[in-house]
Amino acid sequence: MTGDASRPELRIGMIGYLFMGRAHTQAWSTIGRAFDLPARPVLRVVCGPDRADTERAAARLGWAEVETDWHALVRRDDVDVVDICAPASLHAPIAIEALAAGKHVFCEKPLANTVEEAAQMAEAARAASGRGVRSMLGFNYRRVPALSYAWQLMRDGRLGEIRHVRVAYLQDWLSDPAAPMNWRMTSRVSGSGVLADLGSHAIDLSQHLLGEPVNAVSGLTATFVAQRPLPPDVDAPAHGLDPDLRTGVVDVPDAAAFLARFASGAVGTFEVSRMATGRKNSLRVEVNGSTGSLAFDLERICELELYDATQPPAEQGFRRILMTEPVHPWVAAWWPPGHVIGWEHTFSHELRDLVVAIAEGVDPRPSFADGLQVQAVLDAVERSSRGGGWVEVERRPTW
Ligand SMILES: NC(=O)c1ccc[n+]([C@@H]2O[C@H](COP(=O)([O-])OP(=O)(O)OC[C@H]3O[C@@H](n4cnc5c(N)ncnc54)[C@H](O)[C@@H]3O)[C@@H](O)[C@H]2O)c1
Repeated sequence: MTGDASRPELRIGMIGYLFMGRAHTQAWSTIGRAFDLPARPVLRVVCGPDRADTERAAARLGWAEVETDWHALVRRDDVDVVDICAPASLHAPIAIEALAAGKHVFCEKPLANTVEEAAQMAEAARAASGRGVRSMLGFNYRRVPALSYAWQLMRDGRLGEIRHVRVAYLQDWLSDPAAPMNWRMTSRVSGSGVLADLGSHAIDLSQHLLGEPVNAVSGLTATFVAQRPLPPDVDAPAHGLDPDLRTGVVDVPDAAAFLARFASGAVGTFEVSRMATGRKNSLRVEVNGSTGSLAFDLERICELELYDATQPPAEQGFRRILMTEPVHPWVAAWWPPGHVIGWEHTFSHELRDLVVAIAEGVDPRPSFADGLQVQAVLDAVERSSRGGGWVEVERRPTW
């Protein structure tokens, strides 16, 4: 529990407590100390399939109670917000049931595993909004201060007419063929693997920055290692794996690359991989317009590079802007200028904005409709990679 005890409580029920569960817990625990919040987040209940494991996690992370059945968590009267930190195959059933039960929902990305599921979630969110129930999707990179500031520069027309956006999101944790299976390599649980995982971030960021949707894509996907060992202690069914096999079949891409055409005619170039040896969590974004360019590298999260083509030729070049001034988005809540913040703060920023949106009665972004548009692009890339050639993206209601 954090923040002023006189504020009303906002009781959180979180499903999943590992990677994202830890990141969200950190954010829920911190935001009341950093921001002047209209409500006080309370770590009410956390859910995982195994009671003993979940109780250990709850004790370490500071959650008051545990559930082992997410349906039970969603039905609880003492939960106001359901925070979904479980694999993507669970996003649609949990979110739809939670919204129907009148709970605000924060859902990790990608929205879902299929366009159909995503459309059902977007519809459930639309209907819930009419009853004052909010939903938000966890594309946390929108809330890197440098990328949010880049978005503002583009809204102000500082880059002129946009010609190119280039996004590479690269990791290397599957470079070793002996790296063991987990749910991220099984389509039934993770959808399109790296495409859904890292590709969804890349697509959302580009559509958000440009303020327009991808109209068509041409892509390819690659699976370099088709079978991987099961971890020795794996609970195979819980991970969607066959318990009789000592190896698991990887039925999702390890890497994907695609070209995209935006509605305005701008050209997008995207690459995502879990096999880019040496790249741990490398997210690079560059946008080129008629009067300027900007570039961002997640490994230098507090910097934005800006090129202003209207400067005199003798003084041209990319400028490095340090994004630690109080005028930069969310930054005033943290430390004095030059005292850098990091990756975990993106989660604090999104959950802070969710708490404010709930209090103000407005729908936060990214919305489930935004996630549906991303899902339509992912689906088009998959179809393009199977059949070759350009595939049109169906326009969804956000735009
Ligand atoms: N925003 C980001 O940068 C980012 C980064 C990583 C993952 N993610 C997303 O977060 C989600 C979770 O990924 P993760 O990396 O935290 O996975 P993880 O494997 O680390 O954690 C998954 C959690 O879900 C729980 N779980 C699984 N089945 C369950 C069930 N039936 N009932 C209750 N709990 C269940 C597990 O116990 C575990 O605690 C995914 O959608 C993933 O794409 C987002």
